[in-house]
Amino acid sequence: MTQSHFRRVVLKLSGEALAGRQGYGIDPAVVDLIALQIKEVVAMGIELAVVVGGGNIWRGTAGSAQGMDRATADYMGMLATVINSMALQDALEKHGVDTRVQTAIEMKEIAEPYIRRRAIRHLEKGRVVIFAAGTGNPYFSTDTTAALRAAEIEADVMLKATKEEGVYDSDPRKNPDARKFDELQYLDLLNKGLRVMDSTATSLCMDNDIPIIVFDLGVYGNIRRAVMGESIGTFVRGGGQANGREGDSE
Ligand code: GTP
Repeated sequence: MTQSHFRRVVLKLSGEALAGRQGYGIDPAVVDLIALQIKEVVAMGIELAVVVGGGNIWRGTAGSAQGMDRATADYMGMLATVINSMALQDALEKHGVDTRVQTAIEMKEIAEPYIRRRAIRHLEKGRVVIFAAGTGNPYFSTDTTAALRAAEIEADVMLKATKEEGVYDSDPRKNPDARKFDELQYLDLLNKGLRVMDSTATSLCMDNDIPIIVFDLGVYGNIRRAVMGESIGTFVRGGGQANGREGDSE
């Protein structure tokens, strides 16, 4: 087993990450690449749980902006995350990675219900646990789901995969002078209005002392690098001692 900095991690993937270039739906080739990277991490003996968004299929906030009842739109988004979770499970199993999908909305024919202690047991047995259907409640994002599950299973870190290299002081797609932060504190995310995650998710991580690594999923191997504590992306934590990341004084 390779030495890593983090023993148990929650990986948050956006739904769009599964869509590839087409921008919607599921691109099996892209999901396959993600599965291969997850396989690599699990082979290192790291316990990995995954939360997938649903934005490649349906966005609750967009639906409600168009006049749909917010709770209904959010429930539709939760169902979208179940579809994505099944796609990821399928890809992982094709690569021989044991997985269990647990869903926050009961649908026994498709997946196990979310049971915290059982999820931890699966992780201890080296299975990848994919948490589907968000928190099971409307008005909560899948980022918040990832933070909540990370707290519940006592994960060492939340890995937030994005399309950018990390957190910037302005939108790097619009501003060529945008500056990337290597490190930030939770309060910076909240106070500077850096919209990487919603405030509920950030607050949950802050209150439970769960560091967040925001990194670019587009670079193959970045999941492993993040888990190994390499200095990629932006490391978000509290004001105290760094949580054992490479390059930090310990
Ligand atoms: P161990 O208890 O460690 O053996 O874990 P396990 O998940 O292998 O045990 P279990 O016998 O509970 O599950 C066997 C298979 O059934 C796994 O693929 C589970 O994901 C699946 N499974 C378990 N409970 C449910 C459920 O409520 N619904 C669905 N659809 N599948 C389930």
